[in-house]
Amino acid sequence: MSLKKIAVLTAGMMIAMGTLAACGGSDDPGEDTTAPVVDTPDPTEPDPTEPDPDPEPPSTDALIGITMPDRALERWNRDGEKLQADLQAMGYQTDLQYGDNKPEQQVSQIENQINAGATILVIASIDSNALAPVLQTAAEQGIVIIAYDRLLMDTENVDYYATFDNVGVGTMQGEFMRDTADLDNAEGPFNFEAFTGSDDDNNAKLFFQGAWDVLKPYYDDGKLVCPSGKCPETVDSWTDVSIRGWSTEDAQTEMENRLNSFYADKKVDIVLSPNDSLAFGIASALDAAGYVPGEDWPLLTGQDADEANVKNILAGKQSMSVFKDTRILAGNVATMVDEIAKGGSPSGINGEYDNNVKMVPTVQAALQAVTKDTVQAVLIDSGFYTADQLGL
Ligand code: BGC
Repeated sequence: MSLKKIAVLTAGMMIAMGTLAACGGSDDPGEDTTAPVVDTPDPTEPDPTEPDPDPEPPSTDALIGITMPDRALERWNRDGEKLQADLQAMGYQTDLQYGDNKPEQQVSQIENQINAGATILVIASIDSNALAPVLQTAAEQGIVIIAYDRLLMDTENVDYYATFDNVGVGTMQGEFMRDTADLDNAEGPFNFEAFTGSDDDNNAKLFFQGAWDVLKPYYDDGKLVCPSGKCPETVDSWTDVSIRGWSTEDAQTEMENRLNSFYADKKVDIVLSPNDSLAFGIASALDAAGYVPGEDWPLLTGQDADEANVKNILAGKQSMSVFKDTRILAGNVATMVDEIAKGGSPSGINGEYDNNVKMVPTVQAALQAVTKDTVQAVLIDSGFYTADQLGL
């Protein structure tokens, strides 16, 4: 039985058993994604609940192709290295590539991995639409395709997805702002600015969706005002303020422009940044404009708990970050790869995400907010950073 066949059968089996819990990923937050998907078993197919009478031997010498978006962001280096190390420790051959944020470069890296005989591809995409032809080639060859952190959109050719609770990232950021600024009781109004992530990354929409569900009521009733006018009114207009490629420099320039054009006679109080690479650029713009930590520095969110940003948190230049433990994500994917390569099914599936073509069985990992007060407990005690690294 081919790997692909096993994967497809497995997904069918999980759905038929009704074990998939719904989770974030739907466009419509109100949509009922919890309805069970009923799959009528085909009597001509082998019963997937019975052991395979002719199991394939474990193929731990299999080549696993791993493609990551770019090296510029600290997290992808950690993800790639951890996943590679875990798989090699299990006895797999790996090919790890970084795409320098260039979609065409990632396409040729995946082509090379297919030509080298990869049996499973783990892909953290740059622009998933650009990958459609190469995913089709892989699928035709029975290669199992796992989307890593970012969902492969608008394609049939993705078997599994491993990520964090992406809507939950935004919810955590929105709730942090709501609670820290005490939006329910404070008089306000608060000057608020919003940024969103790269418009070719499905996660960026989910992050904004989670945050905006929390913050929009305060925007609608005038407690949050947006002097620049650059705050999307609805989740669907999130690309109006997106920063292509999650660029730190572009976020800095955009924040400088907003401060110069709209804040000559006022201060910004709250800035929604979807991740740390943007937050770092925004903090540099605030610095340059003369904002002082502990005095008039605005609330500023982030995500990833990158080293430079944790230092900014400690210095009062960023209020929080959403910590996504890449050791857990990479570990989840290594386990998934191992289970599939040995002819089994991923045991950790705990949700599904809609990629506009299909519901993709997903392993979703948990999140933790980190603030100045919790750096020690969340990041140092867990061994993610040493105190030395953070200058403590
Ligand atoms: C990831 C974030 C990351 C961003 C920029 C997103 O897809 O989920 O963790 O900060 O890409 O690389």
